[in-house]
Amino acid sequence: MKSAKSIRQYLRVNKHSETLHINQLSLMRTENEQPVYKFGFGQSPFPVPQAITISLALAAHRKEYMSVQGYLPLREAIATFHKEKEQKNWEADNIIIGSGSKILLFCVMAAFIEAEILLPAPSWVSYEPQGILAGHNVNWLDTKFKDKWRITPEQLEQYCIQRNNPDTPLVLILNYPSNPTGQTYHTEELAALAKVMRKYNIIVIADEIYSLLSYEQNYNSIADFYPEGCIVSSGLSKWCGAGGWRLGFMYIPPQLENLLQTVIGVASETYSCAPSPVQIAATKAYSSPEQSNDFINKQINVLTTISKYCCEKLNSIDIKVHAAEGGFYLFPDFSSFRKQLENRNIHTSEQLTKVLMDETGVALLPGSAFGMPSSSLTTRLAFVDFDGKTALKIDTQKYNFNKIKKGISILCEWLLALPTEN
Ligand SMILES: Cc1ncc(COP(=O)(O)O)c(C=O)c1O
Repeated sequence: MKSAKSIRQYLRVNKHSETLHINQLSLMRTENEQPVYKFGFGQSPFPVPQAITISLALAAHRKEYMSVQGYLPLREAIATFHKEKEQKNWEADNIIIGSGSKILLFCVMAAFIEAEILLPAPSWVSYEPQGILAGHNVNWLDTKFKDKWRITPEQLEQYCIQRNNPDTPLVLILNYPSNPTGQTYHTEELAALAKVMRKYNIIVIADEIYSLLSYEQNYNSIADFYPEGCIVSSGLSKWCGAGGWRLGFMYIPPQLENLLQTVIGVASETYSCAPSPVQIAATKAYSSPEQSNDFINKQINVLTTISKYCCEKLNSIDIKVHAAEGGFYLFPDFSSFRKQLENRNIHTSEQLTKVLMDETGVALLPGSAFGMPSSSLTTRLAFVDFDGKTALKIDTQKYNFNKIKKGISILCEWLLALPTEN
């Protein structure tokens, strides 16, 4: 187990540098009244539906602590909602509510006495530090552009065969649609991965926080193929636009009952319970799967249109990028401009995002923040800098996401103007 000291050092030295640096540059530019194109920070641009905000306001007097596992009507509503939407067969007893799914991801990692955490590279920024803080070794599986940045069953099997600690539980975190890539796994890929997972008793944490924002209708979960070993996390932050409300949940299958009880124990020693008024409002949000369809479909229309626009523009100048299949992120790979970038002394994704921000105001996050080698010249582009409220009101074809268009065009112009000779 790593010591508390080494974990603190890890957070001090590594954690904040890249994203904070971009934010600082972005603030300085705003203060100097220079334009900033915010593709860095990824939060939902859509408003929380009014019926749900009213429900929150009406519940403001609910000041009592709720049970650590969470308000039962909310857990029941979540089970029914995900049954209607995604055919999940969940019991309320296997669901725990938290102040956002992020803290639940940490609680579940902290609940393992011993584990090895396995992450595809790239993966969301917080899994690795959480795994280290929970005292575990964290290892990465490389992915490739041609595989849409997804792991393959062969690669997973190879990893399991070569492990030198086969008795330590292996916990794989799979997030789809993915932050940072926008890519997802489909039926056949999930079925093939599930075979390997079952063979090697892998415990899977399926982070499905973006599942309801999948652009295709036939969304599948790894839990459909490997229910006994699959934990699922999600919440209100993405599909309901309520990130700051801090409401998430985790489903832990009956086969992992001991783990659920330990997670409840960790929750009781950390956040105690999710805020009571938010749990009441969340019950409202999860109580009308039918009504939410319209709201969700409209978001998907807008996001699909913007993703396609950005990809077409980037592809047209040879930047490798896959159109998003869900959520609101793209993962452009600038390696086709490697030579020109090297002529400007840019060799890593951090250097690329810093210089880009400095010279154009285009804010992207470096692939290295998501576990990619710096030299990969990959970045995360969050396409959320638009007015979600207006976008939901008017015909998607007529909605003009000018700020995003301008940012993409400035990015392309900057790349095309790079020196071809040293
Ligand atoms: C992949 C992923 N997982 C989990 C979370 C955490 O979400 P929550 O707001 O439920 O804590 C986020 C939020 O950005 C995310 O992108």
